[in-house]
Amino acid sequence: MSSFGLTSIRTTGTKIEIVNQLLLPHTVEFVEIDTIEKAHDAIKRMMIRGAPAIASLAALAIHAHLLRALDAQPAPEWLASPAALQAHVQPLLDYLYTARPTAVNLGEATRRLSRTLQAGVAAGKDARAIAAEVAATGKLIDAEDVVRNKRMSRHGAEWLLAQVAQKGAAPAALQVMTVCNTGSLATSGYGTALGLITYLHETGKLQRAFFTQSTPYHQGSRLTAFELQSLQIPATMLCDSMVGSLFQHHAVAAVVVGADRIAKNGDTANKVGTYNAAVLAARHGIPFIVVAPVSTVDLETASGSEIPIEQRPALEACLVRGALYPFATDAAGVKQQATVMVTPEGLDGVYNPSFDVTPAELITAIVTEVGVAVKAEGAKEFDLSNVV
Ligand code: MRU
Repeated sequence: MSSFGLTSIRTTGTKIEIVNQLLLPHTVEFVEIDTIEKAHDAIKRMMIRGAPAIASLAALAIHAHLLRALDAQPAPEWLASPAALQAHVQPLLDYLYTARPTAVNLGEATRRLSRTLQAGVAAGKDARAIAAEVAATGKLIDAEDVVRNKRMSRHGAEWLLAQVAQKGAAPAALQVMTVCNTGSLATSGYGTALGLITYLHETGKLQRAFFTQSTPYHQGSRLTAFELQSLQIPATMLCDSMVGSLFQHHAVAAVVVGADRIAKNGDTANKVGTYNAAVLAARHGIPFIVVAPVSTVDLETASGSEIPIEQRPALEACLVRGALYPFATDAAGVKQQATVMVTPEGLDGVYNPSFDVTPAELITAIVTEVGVAVKAEGAKEFDLSNVV
């Protein structure tokens, strides 16, 4: 396997490259993102995915766009006045925001950039100064991610270990299950739910991670498998339909998942299949923990029923992409890949939501970089005010 140093985005000055996650784990291809259109397209096509990572790419694309303009000779006309700058940048932010609808982090990032822009205009600053400030905010949005991931991972892991200890007879190390991919590839580094698992491993408290394949995009079997292998974390993959069986036959201490949007009451949108896992976890008395940054908490959305759920094209659920097996390599030693259709041609009824909503009632704890929220005794909803 490759040792490219797991990352979703790498930057050098204003040069942005992303790993094309559609080709992982067999081919590591970096794609340069040098326009706002390319950033939008990469997010929409899921070449980059994961709520924090798509927000970072949008923010970095704006950062690079503005820095290039500030260096350009002659300067573009839209840097001539604050009004012209605003008329140029705001539509770019609106456009980036339309790339994917469910992950609130993308909207949070574009709104934050927009607020920096508006504040600069309102303060009567020079267009170049405002552009520099918006660019700096873009860089900051990306940089903040890794630090907060490490914090939430520690909060969540320590809380879980304390819960297990409280029940008595705590095992030396825990088995934990996760869904989708929430690690370095889904964020700017370390990860959220996968960060918690990594923290348990680093502190000698993880026996084994279980992860679902997370069909139809296989974020689990392609990406989480790749990350866990590279981190040398003992791990076992299961098909999405095997979660109930896993809980019946193995001692799983917790299910830990990420989130694309957490409503004010704690209802959580995450990768489709998360709700199934939560129902089964409740049935088996297994704690269900959501780990996400504050930017994923959407206090403007009262409950899960208001969260927009992205429907992906039907065709995507009919296709599987991967390396030819037995492996066949080209002259450069690169494994050949193919996309194959697993359904009969012309199937016209396909249900393909990208996310589902797990009701707060089924969630044991919500962890952010600020801390851990649990429901009050007997409550079905969270009060998240202490963790945002
Ligand atoms: O469709 P995706 O791959 O972007 O979905 C990703 C997820 O659902 C993740 O669990 C979520 O974004 C959290 S990533 C830290």
